[in-house]
Amino acid sequence: MATSRDEATVGVRTVVVPAAGMGTRFLPATKTVPKELLPVVDTPGIELIAQEAAAVGAQRLAVITAPSKQEVLRHFDTFPELVEMLRARGKDEQADKVERANQLIAPIAIEQAKPLGLGHAVSLAEPVLDADEDAFAVMLPDDIVLPATVLEDMARVRAAKGGSVLCAFEVSREETFNYGVFDVEDTEDELVKKVVGMVEKPEPDQAPSNLVATGRYLLDRKIFAALRQITPGKGGELQLTDAIDKLIAAGEPVHVVVHRGKRHDLGNPGGYIPACVDFGLHDPVYGPALYKSLKAIMTAFEAETR
Ligand code: UTP
Repeated sequence: MATSRDEATVGVRTVVVPAAGMGTRFLPATKTVPKELLPVVDTPGIELIAQEAAAVGAQRLAVITAPSKQEVLRHFDTFPELVEMLRARGKDEQADKVERANQLIAPIAIEQAKPLGLGHAVSLAEPVLDADEDAFAVMLPDDIVLPATVLEDMARVRAAKGGSVLCAFEVSREETFNYGVFDVEDTEDELVKKVVGMVEKPEPDQAPSNLVATGRYLLDRKIFAALRQITPGKGGELQLTDAIDKLIAAGEPVHVVVHRGKRHDLGNPGGYIPACVDFGLHDPVYGPALYKSLKAIMTAFEAETR
């Protein structure tokens, strides 16, 4: 598929970031620290998402937060006293880091009183959209999809085929039980599939494919009508997947872009630790020493477990 940035016309004004989940897989850390604020090297997941949204030209970040997770939005405040103190001490690099989040994009807080599910969280963003905004993006802050330009590919597919476009990742069949799995038909483009159905966390022998949903969605505004029709599904939650299924059933075009880049799941320690290692290894300051430490840790671990 063509991926030239020159022809990229993402045209998305609003990126919705659902961040009101309970983060139970990260307890006990998430008793007091929202998982969206856990750092990857030194930058929290919520800021990585804001960077990605700003990079595709979005104007506002509609962050869905829980009443107990107000710190997530505080990350976008200005902190003038801290900045002044750092600059007075010659720590300009650190001061720039403090100011960075605030300068990226305009955040809007939307409160989800109870964690009723991802579908419910997304439905709360409707009033934030302009009257003429016929599509918007959803980016899950615990999902890192690299390169961050995948939304540009998705926007091109929406421009060509209309409707909603999601991002799919290939996993082995044994892993499908962890994800929303797409039932697809081929198109003329190997990396673009038409979605004919979705199954939430199926057993491997029931999975319609090995293409699973990742945390990037380009949704037609019609999703809000579909979200109003759904009832609690898997886990008693209002599932975004069920609303997408309704769009498909109503004959609305839904496609996936098969993403061949990297993906990190920051939502549980098993995905978060490799993400920190990957970002750490690529970090110009910490990378070289980390590489040596990791090799030494691996050698010692192999000797211990031999
Ligand atoms: P997850 O299921 O991965 O997040 O939801 P969680 O519920 O915080 O995780 P666990 O299972 O308890 O560990 C995917 C995304 O949807 C958001 C989450 O914050 C996460 O970014 N979400 C989920 C909401 O905003 N509201 C909800 O009611 C549920």
